[in-house]
Amino acid sequence: MPIEEPSWNCPVVALDGPSASGKSTLARALAKALGWFYLGSGDWYRALTWAALRKGVNPSSPQALLDTFSSIQVLGHPDGSVDVDGRILDAELRAPQIDQAVCDVADHGVVREALNSRMREFRSAPEVKGIVADGRDAGSVIFPDACLKVFIDAGVDARASRRLAQVEAAGVDTTIADVRRALEERDSRDAARGASAPRPSSDGKVLDNSNLTVEEATGRLLSWVRPLLKEDPTTLS
Ligand code: DC
Repeated sequence: MPIEEPSWNCPVVALDGPSASGKSTLARALAKALGWFYLGSGDWYRALTWAALRKGVNPSSPQALLDTFSSIQVLGHPDGSVDVDGRILDAELRAPQIDQAVCDVADHGVVREALNSRMREFRSAPEVKGIVADGRDAGSVIFPDACLKVFIDAGVDARASRRLAQVEAAGVDTTIADVRRALEERDSRDAARGASAPRPSSDGKVLDNSNLTVEEATGRLLSWVRPLLKEDPTTLS
């Protein structure tokens, strides 16, 4: 669906922000509270990376990545899970090889465009009442007409502690210093992506999620979304 179509046909809330700011957790919680579809754009980059590595494709070759993308069927589900050719991907997407290669995949403008067009198609699916999308450029590039854009920020210490807890829960032995260094490297890589670099939108809000619980942050987001939905009768069911 072209992005010029009226946003209220399928409203989108876009949550962007740096790695480990908590945006995916909040996007999932918000989508659940609203009964909307959750679209984690980072997982789409990861799913393509997974398919490319499996086929032995070099993540530095944009054409090979585009060929891979056209040769697979990628589907998104309402809870945000992504399947490739009928296989739902979960832990596979968090494997260290994917972490390493996904930045190369996300660096190619043509690959970004292909993924973005596919993600925009969700708006035309009749069963999708609304979308909460998260990523780096969900509000600036993927859905510029999102009814609400929020930049979910958090200090690097809070982000490193969160990421350390996730990594330790996955059984990986690491240190806060290593996790922090990896986050800072990822931040510089993200910042180099021009229009798709994560930054607060001039027409959006910023939520500092350094010290909020999931409930507090979701409550804040809901308090911003609900009045917008009341403005448009088509979203009230
Ligand atoms: O949020 P994440 O770590 O799962 O994202 C995976 C990678 O994809 C990361 O390198 C950033 C990139 N990405 C992006 O460039 N644009 C998006 N909208 C989402 C993710």
